[in-house]
Amino acid sequence: MANQIPEITLNDGLTLPAVGFGTYKLNGAAGVNALVSAIDTGYRLIDSAFNYENEGAVGEAVRRSSVPREQLRITSKLPGRHHTYREALTTIQESLFRAGLDYFDLYLIHWPNPSKDLYVEAWQALVDAKKWGLIRSIGVSNFLPEHLERIIQETGVTPSINQVELHPYFAQEEQRAWHKEHGIVTESWSPLGRANRLLEDGTITKIAKAHQKSVPQIILRWHIQLGALPLPKSSSPQRQLDNLSVFDFTLSDEEMQAISGLSRPDGRTFGQDPATYEEF
Ligand SMILES: NC(=O)c1ccc[n+]([C@@H]2O[C@H](COP(=O)([O-])OP(=O)(O)OC[C@H]3O[C@@H](n4cnc5c(N)ncnc54)[C@H](OP(=O)(O)O)[C@@H]3O)[C@@H](O)[C@H]2O)c1
Repeated sequence: MANQIPEITLNDGLTLPAVGFGTYKLNGAAGVNALVSAIDTGYRLIDSAFNYENEGAVGEAVRRSSVPREQLRITSKLPGRHHTYREALTTIQESLFRAGLDYFDLYLIHWPNPSKDLYVEAWQALVDAKKWGLIRSIGVSNFLPEHLERIIQETGVTPSINQVELHPYFAQEEQRAWHKEHGIVTESWSPLGRANRLLEDGTITKIAKAHQKSVPQIILRWHIQLGALPLPKSSSPQRQLDNLSVFDFTLSDEEMQAISGLSRPDGRTFGQDPATYEEF
C-alpha cells in the first residue's frame, strides 16, 4: 500500500484523493484484473468514459474489490454524440446500467464540441441528474474558459472539475489560473504524456536522479505541487504502486520551475485543441 494520500475537497463538498487512476485501454478481463490491482494498491478515484467501453469492467472491479463502494470515487463521461438534453439523460442511465452501479461519484461532459453548440443542454442534463441522485458531483472535460463561462452564466452552476490535457510539455498555466479563480479543480489527463519521449527528458531525468525517484514519480509530484489532480493509467501492478508513491518527497521551487519551463504552446501530444477538435 502506498503512503497516505491527501484529499481534495470539491466546490460541492465531495472529497477526492489527490491522485486518481486512468483506465483508457483497460477493457475486458485483463482490464478488470488491472483495475482490481489498482484498487488493492490504494487507488480510490477511477476515471472512465462511455466511449472507453469499459464502464462494465470498472463496475465489475468495484464489485470484486474488498473496498466498500462508498470509499470509491467512480467517474464516467458523456460522449459528444449525446449532447441533447434528452439523450444526455438517457446516456447517464445507460452508463449506470453498463457499470451495474446505482450512482456515479463524478460525471463529466467529455468534449464541448463547440461547432454543434449543444454543450449547455448537456450541462443542464448533468445538473438535473445530480438533483435526482444519479451523480454526486458534476464536471466537464476539455472545456476552454469561453465554454466554462457560458455554462456557468446560462445555468448558474459551476462545474466541480475540468479534466484537461496536462503534462510538463503542456502545462496549461492560464487555464489552471482560470480554474483556481472560479473554484474548479483541474484534473490532468495523459499526466505522463502517454509515456512518450517525455519519460526520457534530460531535465526531468536529472531531477529524478537527485531525488532517487523515477521520472514518472517526479512528473506526478510536479502535478500535485501545481495543485492539479493527475490520473495516471497503468496496466502493471508495480507501475501502479510507483505512480502512487509520490508523497514522501518535495520538489524545490527551482525544480518546479525547471519542469514547467519545458512547456510549449504547441505541446499537446496529439494537437487536440478543444476549440476545433471534436469527439463523438
Ligand atoms: N478527458 C479526456 O479527453 C481524456 C483523454 C485522454 C486520457 N484521459 C484519461 O486520462 C488517463 C491517463 O491518460 P493516458 O492513459 O492517455 O496516459 P498516461 O497516464 O499519461 O500514460 C499511460 C502510459 O504510461 C505508461 N506508464 C504508466 N506508468 C508508468 C511508469 N511508472 N513507468 C513507465 N511507463 C508508465 C502506461 O503503460 P502501462 O499500462 O504498460 O504501465 C501507458 O502506456 C486515461 O487513461 C483516461 O482515463 C482522458
